[in-house]
Amino acid sequence: MNKQLRKTVIAGNWKMNKTPEQAKALINEMKPLVANADCDVVLCVPFIDIPAAVEAAKGSNIKIGAENVHFKASGAYTGEIAADMLKEAGVEYVVIGHSERRTYFGETDQTVNLRSLAALNAGLKAIICVGETLEQRELGYTETLLKYQTKMALTNVTKEQLANVIIAYEPVWAIGTGVTATAEQADEGNGFVRAAIAEAYGADVAETVTVQYGGSMNAGNADELLAKANVDGGLIGGASLKAADFAKIVEAASK
Ligand code: PGA
Repeated sequence: MNKQLRKTVIAGNWKMNKTPEQAKALINEMKPLVANADCDVVLCVPFIDIPAAVEAAKGSNIKIGAENVHFKASGAYTGEIAADMLKEAGVEYVVIGHSERRTYFGETDQTVNLRSLAALNAGLKAIICVGETLEQRELGYTETLLKYQTKMALTNVTKEQLANVIIAYEPVWAIGTGVTATAEQADEGNGFVRAAIAEAYGADVAETVTVQYGGSMNAGNADELLAKANVDGGLIGGASLKAADFAKIVEAASK
């Protein structure tokens, strides 16, 4: 296991928060606080905030991401956004298959796969989310489910494209609940994801893929989580809406 082989990436997921003006203000507040980061720093923002966020982040080490992307290039898909639209707007990353999309908007392993392919084929970096519910964990399905979701999401993704893939292990029971997985649970879950990648692409390749943990990661628990061998960064919801908290997580990842 060699953490040096992969990038540590701290990504904020703002969800449905912040207007464009508020986005600009928050990014301007964050910029000096994360300027010395020794990890990649990403903010995934609502579609409407993207132009303001890209403008505000210009010249800094903050990269901008979107929170979803459609799998078709164009067409009659009211309300959807295509990968080349994101690319042209200056977006570099996109969150795909977040559990809120799976739970509230009918996202399936198949659509997660199609969206991932669309993002990767357009040259975007995909942050693909996987994770078990509490019920699935209690029934003992965590490993099976994480491996299945990971392999399904990566169907037809080439070895070369894998360089632009980040998998975020987000136990559904830990998202927005204040209940964080223990560092051991996070490390184990991330390990299952890496094992699935190893089964599909080989162990050497799996060692190079960034696997984040997400779910109530905050300024207080980031150090312990990020110290784990399989935890290569975090996908941060609530704590990414506060500049000081987000900066502390970036600092923990930079150690
Ligand atoms: P949380 O969200 O940090 O607020 O738990 C994480 C996520 O949903 O990506």
